[in-house]
Amino acid sequence: MTPTKPMNTDAAREPGEALLPLFPEHSSVTPAGELTIGGVGVSELAERFGTPAYIVDEAGLRNQAALIRDGLAARRPDSGVVFASKSFPCVAACKVMAAQGLAVDVAGAGELVMALAAGVPADRMYLHGNAKTTAELTMALAAGVGTVVVDNFDDIDRLEQLATGPQRVLLRIIPGISPHTHESQSTGGDDSKFGLPADQARAAIARIRASDRLRLDGLHLHIGSQILDTEPFGRAVQALGPVAALGRFGVYDIGGGLGVRYTRRDQAPAVESYLDVITAAARAYLPAGARLVIEPGRSLVARSCVTLYRVTTVKHTGRTFVAVDGGMADNLDVALTGQPFEAVLATRMTEPPAEVVDVVGRQCESGDLLVAGLAMPAPAVGDLLAMPVTGAYTYTLANNYNGALRPPIVFCQDGQARLAAERETHDHVLALHRPALDPAW
Ligand SMILES: Cc1ncc(COP(=O)(O)O)c(C=O)c1O
Repeated sequence: MTPTKPMNTDAAREPGEALLPLFPEHSSVTPAGELTIGGVGVSELAERFGTPAYIVDEAGLRNQAALIRDGLAARRPDSGVVFASKSFPCVAACKVMAAQGLAVDVAGAGELVMALAAGVPADRMYLHGNAKTTAELTMALAAGVGTVVVDNFDDIDRLEQLATGPQRVLLRIIPGISPHTHESQSTGGDDSKFGLPADQARAAIARIRASDRLRLDGLHLHIGSQILDTEPFGRAVQALGPVAALGRFGVYDIGGGLGVRYTRRDQAPAVESYLDVITAAARAYLPAGARLVIEPGRSLVARSCVTLYRVTTVKHTGRTFVAVDGGMADNLDVALTGQPFEAVLATRMTEPPAEVVDVVGRQCESGDLLVAGLAMPAPAVGDLLAMPVTGAYTYTLANNYNGALRPPIVFCQDGQARLAAERETHDHVLALHRPALDPAW
């Protein structure tokens, strides 16, 4: 476990409300010091829905989708935004994105089922995956998925066997770009397991073009996630262009990857700067009139959500451990990628900090450390703790470690809260074990 770092900075002396810019767009602090999301107070949310819970600012989510959609369209009319549903695999999020006119990327049958259930038209879906099974491709083709992103030659073999009519595809290439991000989030380097290197891509293009069923719309790449610098995205666009000697195409899909601020120290590019860079690169390197597609996940959803916990234990052992009723089972990112987060005592937002603590989870791992070295008012058992910027890849990675139950998702807007996904129950989990529950087993 990382040691507690005392923070003798000005920031450490600021009350929790100084962190409000990290919280969803429609967050505020009442005069009594209580955090509200979408106009709903955290005490009411905890009372109605329990903790831990993922609390979403619905209008903030919608606005972010509109910002990216309109920002791209204004800079490059022939373009499209595809919601990477893996970042927040939830029916409600798919509904919001589809209503905002976004297409949806589904990586595998589970996300396909979710997006179909949300009413996303199949022809506006992009099917991804480096290990698509025959069953998944069969399901996707039967549903009428608009675009399959071909990752390898086995995809081509399967598609040729399964497609009964013309099927639009993109070919994913390895651009040989390794942006600065966590190793597990870098996907465009030469040794990536995703896509094909240029020489093999040429062979794949020839095969697809020779097929009487597959229609090659263009190329795809995705260089990684949580990228806090715009420059690699410009290089990525360049890597797709005719200069790569792969030919000229009508569609260029450059994936997602734009990073976001998680902590007060982070600096992330504005969406507008990212869009400026990719559209300038598209003008410079892609054929005029080619369609530019992006697949944001994190930058669409991360800020819209807050995880609400309740403090269960406060322990002083030379360090102060503030343990909450969740942890790496509902936010694996810290342990998986080392992503730092912030947190606040959510009904004491105006109190100045009195201590430096480690916020830890309840899972049996020393690595289950949600925030190290956090300055906060003296914490008490029962306090509500809110962790901002948890919209991306937290619900995705939620798991049952130590019998944890996946938290509910609650959408808030204009002072109203509504359940979007229920809390998992012990019965849900035990239902999977029905065979062994039979006394005759
Ligand atoms: C193919 C593809 N597109 C888009 C994304 C979304 O990336 P991000 O959430 O970083 O925007 C991912 C995520 O890893 C991806 O694999």
